[in-house]
Amino acid sequence: MKSRAAKATAQTAFPETSPPPEEAVLWCRDVCRSLGAEEGRVEVLRGVSLMLKRGQSQAVAGPSGCGKSTLLYLLGLLDRPDSGEVYLQGRAMGGVSDAGRTRARCGSIGFVFQFHFLLAEFTALENVTLPMLRLGRYPERECRERAAALLEKVGLADKSSRLANHLSGGERQRVAIARALANDPALLLADEPTGNLDETNAAKVVDLLLGIAGGEERAVLLVTHNAAIAARCGGCWTMRGGKIV
Ligand SMILES: Nc1ncnc2c1ncn2[C@@H]1O[C@H](COP(=O)(O)OP(=O)(O)O)[C@@H](O)[C@H]1O
Ligand SMILES: [Mg+2]
Repeated sequence: MKSRAAKATAQTAFPETSPPPEEAVLWCRDVCRSLGAEEGRVEVLRGVSLMLKRGQSQAVAGPSGCGKSTLLYLLGLLDRPDSGEVYLQGRAMGGVSDAGRTRARCGSIGFVFQFHFLLAEFTALENVTLPMLRLGRYPERECRERAAALLEKVGLADKSSRLANHLSGGERQRVAIARALANDPALLLADEPTGNLDETNAAKVVDLLLGIAGGEERAVLLVTHNAAIAARCGGCWTMRGGKIV
Protein backbone atom coordinates (compact mmCIF):
# COMPACT_ATOMS: atom_id res chain seq x y z
CA MET A 1 0.00 0.00 0.00
CA LYS A 2 1.22 3.47 -0.81
CA SER A 3 1.84 5.61 2.25
CA ARG A 4 0.17 8.97 2.71
CA ALA A 5 3.60 10.68 2.54
CA ALA A 6 4.42 9.04 -0.80
CA LYS A 7 1.08 10.19 -2.19
CA ALA A 8 1.70 13.76 -1.07
CA THR A 9 5.17 13.99 -2.62
CA ALA A 10 3.88 12.42 -5.83
CA GLN A 11 2.35 15.77 -6.73
CA THR A 12 5.67 17.61 -6.66
CA ALA A 13 7.62 17.48 -9.90
CA PHE A 14 10.46 19.68 -8.76
CA PRO A 15 13.13 18.37 -6.44
CA GLU A 16 13.83 20.64 -3.53
CA THR A 17 16.97 18.95 -2.31
CA SER A 18 20.42 18.59 -3.77
CA PRO A 19 21.82 15.97 -3.88
CA PRO A 20 18.71 13.80 -4.37
CA PRO A 21 17.46 11.83 -1.38
CA GLU A 22 18.30 8.16 -1.23
CA GLU A 23 14.82 7.04 -2.17
CA ALA A 24 14.96 8.98 -5.47
CA VAL A 25 15.06 6.39 -8.22
CA LEU A 26 15.06 9.10 -10.85
CA TRP A 27 16.00 12.74 -10.57
CA CYS A 28 16.57 15.21 -13.34
CA ARG A 29 17.45 18.84 -13.31
CA ASP A 30 16.92 21.50 -16.01
CA VAL A 31 16.99 19.00 -18.85
CA CYS A 32 16.97 20.62 -22.31
CA ARG A 33 16.92 18.90 -25.68
CA SER A 34 16.60 20.20 -29.23
CA LEU A 35 15.90 17.91 -32.16
CA GLY A 36 16.13 18.29 -35.93
CA ALA A 37 18.77 19.96 -38.11
CA GLU A 38 19.51 23.63 -38.84
CA GLU A 39 16.41 25.75 -39.41
CA GLY A 40 14.22 22.74 -38.68
CA ARG A 41 15.68 22.45 -35.17
CA VAL A 42 13.07 22.51 -32.43
CA GLU A 43 13.62 23.12 -28.71
CA VAL A 44 11.61 20.11 -27.56
CA LEU A 45 12.50 20.10 -23.84
CA ARG A 46 13.10 23.47 -22.24
CA GLY A 47 14.21 22.80 -18.70
CA VAL A 48 12.51 19.78 -17.17
CA SER A 49 13.19 18.97 -13.51
CA LEU A 50 11.53 16.10 -11.71
CA MET A 51 12.02 13.50 -9.06
CA LEU A 52 10.54 10.04 -8.77
CA LYS A 53 10.85 7.98 -5.61
CA ARG A 54 10.63 4.28 -4.82
CA GLY A 55 7.03 3.12 -4.69
CA GLN A 56 5.76 6.18 -6.55
CA SER A 57 3.53 5.89 -9.63
CA GLN A 58 3.27 9.02 -11.69
CA ALA A 59 1.41 9.90 -14.87
CA VAL A 60 2.64 12.39 -17.46
CA ALA A 61 -0.02 13.97 -19.64
CA GLY A 62 0.01 16.74 -22.23
CA PRO A 63 -0.88 17.47 -25.85
CA SER A 64 0.65 15.50 -28.68
CA GLY A 65 4.06 16.89 -29.63
CA CYS A 66 4.77 18.53 -26.25
CA GLY A 67 7.85 16.36 -25.68
CA LYS A 68 6.62 13.43 -23.56
CA SER A 69 8.34 10.70 -25.57
CA THR A 70 11.50 12.78 -25.92
CA LEU A 71 11.57 13.13 -22.13
CA LEU A 72 11.06 9.40 -21.59
CA TYR A 73 13.92 8.62 -23.99
CA LEU A 74 16.22 10.88 -21.99
CA LEU A 75 15.10 9.50 -18.64
CA GLY A 76 15.48 5.98 -20.01
CA LEU A 77 19.08 6.72 -21.12
CA LEU A 78 18.19 6.12 -24.77
CA ASP A 79 19.27 9.69 -25.56
CA ARG A 80 21.39 12.36 -23.90
CA PRO A 81 20.25 15.89 -22.98
CA ASP A 82 21.95 18.96 -24.52
CA SER A 83 22.17 20.40 -21.02
CA GLY A 84 20.95 19.42 -17.57
CA GLU A 85 21.56 16.16 -15.77
CA VAL A 86 19.73 12.86 -15.30
CA TYR A 87 20.45 10.88 -12.11
CA LEU A 88 19.52 7.23 -11.94
CA GLN A 89 19.50 5.81 -8.41
CA GLY A 90 21.60 8.74 -7.24
CA ARG A 91 24.21 8.44 -9.99
CA ALA A 92 24.74 11.27 -12.50
CA MET A 93 24.52 9.62 -15.92
CA GLY A 94 25.92 12.45 -18.09
CA GLY A 95 29.58 11.51 -17.75
CA VAL A 96 28.95 7.77 -18.06
CA SER A 97 30.12 5.98 -21.24
CA ASP A 98 27.60 4.54 -23.69
CA ALA A 99 28.47 1.03 -22.50
CA GLY A 100 27.96 2.05 -18.87
CA ARG A 101 24.63 3.65 -19.71
CA THR A 102 23.52 0.51 -21.54
CA ARG A 103 24.40 -1.60 -18.49
CA ALA A 104 22.53 0.80 -16.20
CA ARG A 105 19.52 0.77 -18.54
CA CYS A 106 19.38 -3.03 -18.83
CA GLY A 107 19.80 -3.51 -15.09
CA SER A 108 17.61 -0.74 -13.71
CA ILE A 109 15.01 0.33 -16.26
CA GLY A 110 12.09 -1.49 -17.85
CA PHE A 111 10.26 -0.02 -20.87
CA VAL A 112 6.74 -0.52 -22.16
CA PHE A 113 5.96 1.34 -25.39
CA GLN A 114 2.77 1.84 -27.36
CA PHE A 115 4.03 -0.81 -29.77
CA HIS A 116 5.08 -4.00 -28.06
CA PHE A 117 8.37 -4.48 -30.02
CA LEU A 118 8.36 -8.21 -29.30
CA LEU A 119 10.44 -10.49 -31.51
CA ALA A 120 7.71 -12.00 -33.67
CA GLU A 121 9.49 -15.29 -34.39
CA PHE A 122 10.24 -15.98 -30.75
CA THR A 123 7.90 -17.40 -28.14
CA ALA A 124 6.49 -15.35 -25.29
CA LEU A 125 8.86 -17.15 -22.91
CA GLU A 126 11.88 -16.44 -25.13
CA ASN A 127 10.94 -12.77 -25.42
CA VAL A 128 10.85 -12.44 -21.63
CA THR A 129 14.02 -14.51 -21.12
CA LEU A 130 16.19 -12.56 -23.59
CA PRO A 131 16.81 -9.39 -21.50
CA MET A 132 17.93 -11.58 -18.60
CA LEU A 133 20.35 -13.57 -20.76
CA ARG A 134 21.70 -10.30 -22.16
CA LEU A 135 22.30 -8.77 -18.72
CA GLY A 136 23.68 -11.97 -17.23
CA ARG A 137 22.56 -11.33 -13.68
CA TYR A 138 20.87 -14.72 -13.31
CA PRO A 139 22.06 -18.21 -14.34
CA GLU A 140 20.42 -19.47 -17.55
CA ARG A 141 18.03 -21.86 -15.88
CA GLU A 142 16.86 -19.21 -13.44
CA CYS A 143 16.22 -16.87 -16.39
CA ARG A 144 13.71 -19.32 -17.83
CA GLU A 145 12.10 -19.93 -14.43
CA ARG A 146 11.79 -16.21 -13.78
CA ALA A 147 10.31 -15.66 -17.25
CA ALA A 148 7.73 -18.39 -16.66
CA ALA A 149 6.82 -16.86 -13.28
CA LEU A 150 6.45 -13.39 -14.84
CA LEU A 151 4.21 -14.73 -17.61
CA GLU A 152 2.09 -16.38 -14.96
CA LYS A 153 1.80 -13.03 -13.14
CA VAL A 154 0.50 -11.34 -16.29
CA GLY A 155 -1.98 -14.17 -16.81
CA LEU A 156 -0.24 -15.85 -19.73
CA ALA A 157 1.14 -19.06 -18.21
CA ASP A 158 -0.78 -21.11 -20.78
CA LYS A 159 0.60 -19.10 -23.73
CA SER A 160 4.28 -19.04 -22.81
CA SER A 161 5.33 -21.28 -25.70
CA ARG A 162 3.28 -19.44 -28.27
CA LEU A 163 5.05 -17.30 -30.88
CA ALA A 164 4.64 -13.58 -30.28
CA ASN A 165 2.98 -13.07 -33.66
CA HIS A 166 0.33 -15.63 -32.71
CA LEU A 167 -0.82 -13.58 -29.69
CA SER A 168 -3.51 -10.91 -29.58
CA GLY A 169 -2.66 -7.23 -29.14
CA GLY A 170 -3.58 -7.27 -25.45
CA GLU A 171 -1.60 -10.46 -24.85
CA ARG A 172 1.45 -9.02 -26.60
CA GLN A 173 1.35 -5.95 -24.40
CA ARG A 174 1.15 -8.18 -21.33
CA VAL A 175 4.22 -10.08 -22.56
CA ALA A 176 5.90 -6.68 -23.03
CA ILE A 177 5.16 -5.89 -19.37
CA ALA A 178 6.63 -9.22 -18.26
CA ARG A 179 9.69 -8.51 -20.42
CA ALA A 180 10.04 -5.02 -18.90
CA LEU A 181 10.14 -6.63 -15.44
CA ALA A 182 12.61 -9.35 -16.43
CA ASN A 183 15.64 -7.85 -14.68
CA ASP A 184 13.60 -6.54 -11.74
CA PRO A 185 14.15 -2.86 -12.65
CA ALA A 186 13.96 -0.03 -10.10
CA LEU A 187 12.25 2.14 -12.71
CA LEU A 188 9.47 1.34 -15.14
CA LEU A 189 8.86 3.76 -18.02
CA ALA A 190 5.68 3.36 -20.05
CA ASP A 191 4.91 5.50 -23.12
CA GLU A 192 1.20 5.37 -23.98
CA PRO A 193 1.16 1.63 -23.26
CA THR A 194 -2.58 1.36 -23.86
CA GLY A 195 -2.64 3.50 -27.02
CA ASN A 196 -3.37 0.52 -29.28
CA LEU A 197 -5.73 -1.40 -27.02
CA ASP A 198 -9.48 -1.57 -26.55
CA GLU A 199 -10.92 -0.51 -23.20
CA THR A 200 -10.95 -3.98 -21.62
CA ASN A 201 -7.36 -4.76 -22.54
CA ALA A 202 -6.24 -1.25 -21.62
CA ALA A 203 -7.72 -1.72 -18.14
CA LYS A 204 -5.89 -5.06 -17.75
CA VAL A 205 -2.59 -3.50 -18.81
CA VAL A 206 -2.99 -0.59 -16.38
CA ASP A 207 -3.90 -3.02 -13.57
CA LEU A 208 -0.66 -4.87 -14.24
CA LEU A 209 1.46 -1.74 -14.56
CA LEU A 210 0.21 -0.25 -11.31
CA GLY A 211 -0.11 -3.61 -9.56
CA ILE A 212 2.64 -6.16 -10.05
CA ALA A 213 4.85 -3.82 -12.07
CA GLY A 214 4.59 -1.09 -9.46
CA GLY A 215 5.07 -2.50 -6.02
CA GLU A 216 6.73 -0.89 -3.03
CA GLU A 217 10.24 -0.73 -4.39
CA ARG A 218 9.64 0.34 -7.94
CA ALA A 219 8.98 3.75 -9.45
CA VAL A 220 6.59 3.92 -12.41
CA LEU A 221 6.34 6.79 -14.90
CA LEU A 222 3.43 6.43 -17.29
CA VAL A 223 2.72 8.68 -20.26
CA THR A 224 -0.97 8.66 -21.08
CA HIS A 225 -3.65 10.71 -22.83
CA ASN A 226 -6.33 8.98 -20.81
CA ALA A 227 -7.54 11.01 -17.81
CA ALA A 228 -9.05 7.95 -16.12
CA ILE A 229 -5.71 6.13 -16.29
CA ALA A 230 -3.81 9.19 -15.07
CA ALA A 231 -6.21 9.43 -12.12
CA ARG A 232 -5.22 5.92 -11.03
CA CYS A 233 -1.59 6.97 -10.60
CA GLY A 234 -0.26 8.60 -7.42
CA GLY A 235 -0.12 11.93 -9.26
CA CYS A 236 -0.13 13.49 -12.70
CA TRP A 237 2.29 16.00 -14.19
CA THR A 238 1.18 17.97 -17.22
CA MET A 239 3.67 18.90 -19.92
CA ARG A 240 3.28 21.89 -22.17
CA GLY A 241 5.78 23.60 -24.45
CA GLY A 242 8.64 21.35 -23.37
CA LYS A 243 8.17 21.88 -19.63
CA ILE A 244 6.27 20.35 -16.74
CA VAL A 245 3.71 23.01 -15.81
N1 LIG B 1 14.15 13.65 -34.69
C1 LIG B 1 13.40 14.73 -34.64
N2 LIG B 1 13.69 15.82 -35.38
C2 LIG B 1 12.93 16.94 -35.30
N3 LIG B 1 11.88 17.09 -34.50
C3 LIG B 1 11.53 16.04 -33.72
C4 LIG B 1 12.27 14.81 -33.76
N4 LIG B 1 11.68 13.97 -32.88
C5 LIG B 1 10.65 14.64 -32.33
N5 LIG B 1 10.56 15.87 -32.85
C6 LIG B 1 9.58 16.90 -32.48
O1 LIG B 1 9.66 17.08 -31.10
C7 LIG B 1 8.39 17.36 -30.57
C8 LIG B 1 8.06 16.46 -29.41
O2 LIG B 1 7.94 15.13 -29.85
P1 LIG B 1 7.53 13.96 -28.85
O3 LIG B 1 8.46 13.95 -27.72
O4 LIG B 1 7.43 12.73 -29.66
O5 LIG B 1 6.09 14.45 -28.36
P2 LIG B 1 4.92 13.66 -27.61
O6 LIG B 1 5.44 12.32 -27.20
O7 LIG B 1 4.56 14.53 -26.45
O8 LIG B 1 3.80 13.56 -28.58
C9 LIG B 1 7.40 17.25 -31.72
O9 LIG B 1 7.12 18.54 -32.20
C10 LIG B 1 8.17 16.47 -32.75
O10 LIG B 1 7.77 16.81 -34.04
MG1 LIG C 1 4.85 10.38 -27.70
